[in-house]
Amino acid sequence: MLSIENLHIEVSGKKILDGVNLKIEKGVTSIMFGQNGSGKTSLVMAIMGFPEYKITKGKIIFKGKVINDLSIDERARLGIGILLQRPPTVRGVKMRQMIALASKASNKKFDVEKMASKLNMKEFLDRDLNLGFSGGEMKRSELLQLAAQSPDLLLLDEPESGVDLENIALIGDVINKLSGKDKSALIITHTGHILDYVNASRGCVLENKKVQCVGDPHDILNRIRKYGYKGCISCHRKEPEKIKAKN
Ligand SMILES: Nc1ncnc2c1ncn2[C@@H]1O[C@H](COP(=O)(O)OP(=O)(O)OP(=O)(O)O)[C@@H](O)[C@H]1O
Ligand SMILES: [Mg+2]
Repeated sequence: MLSIENLHIEVSGKKILDGVNLKIEKGVTSIMFGQNGSGKTSLVMAIMGFPEYKITKGKIIFKGKVINDLSIDERARLGIGILLQRPPTVRGVKMRQMIALASKASNKKFDVEKMASKLNMKEFLDRDLNLGFSGGEMKRSELLQLAAQSPDLLLLDEPESGVDLENIALIGDVINKLSGKDKSALIITHTGHILDYVNASRGCVLENKKVQCVGDPHDILNRIRKYGYKGCISCHRKEPEKIKAKN
C-alpha cells in the first residue's frame, strides 16, 4: 500500500527527517511511537502532501505510484486520508457540509446519521467545524470525516489523545471498521491505549530522524515503558540477523 524510501523532510529550512524507510502492506495496521518532537506528525503531513513539509530526498510510493509531486487533493483522491493531531477550526462551514464533500468525492454510500450517531456526534453535525469542540470531540469529528472519505490508507495522528476511556473504545471500533481487509492504517500514539482496541500487527519507533525499530507493537510499547525510547531502539530488533547469528 505504502512504501517510503530514504525520505528526507525539511520544515522552514530545518531538517526534520533524515532517511526514513517504512513499508505498510495492504490490510495492515501499523503503530508508530516516538518522543515529542521526533517528527511523527511531520512524516504523516509529508505523506498527505502538506506543502510546508518539503521532501528534499527520497520517495513516497502509494499503490505503486510515486506521489512526491502530487497535491493534497490528488493524494486524497488516490485514497489517502488523515486524522490531524491538531485539526483547524473552520468558521462558516458546518460539519455536515464537510462530510457531504468527503463522501461525494469517495463515490461510496455513506450514512452520515448512522455514523454520527455511532460516534456520539449527531448534535455536532450542524455546528461550524471544530468551533468550540473539546479535545475529544475534535478527534471524533476528524474520524467521522475520515469515515465519510473512506480512504484506503488512514493516517491517524494521535487519535486517542484527550479522549475519555469509553470513547477510546468507540474510536478503536470505528478504526477497525475503516481499516483491515484491503485497507491499511498508520496510527501514531504515545500512550498505546489505542492498542487495546485496534487490530495492529506492526509497530515502529521514530527516533533520531529515522525509523529505528520495527516489530510487534505490544512488545515495543512494553520495551519503551521498561527501558525508555533509547533502550527500546538499542534492542536486538534493530539488527535481527546479528542476534540470530549469535544464537
Ligand atoms: N514550521 C516549523 N518550524 C520550525 N520547526 C518546526 C516546524 N514544524 C515542526 N517543527 C519542528 O519539527 C520537529 C518535529 O515536529 P513534529 O510535530 O513532527 O513532532 P512529533 O513527533 O509529532 O511530536 P509530538 O509527539 O509532540 O506530537 C519539532 O522539533 C518541531 O518543533
Ligand atoms: Mg505530533
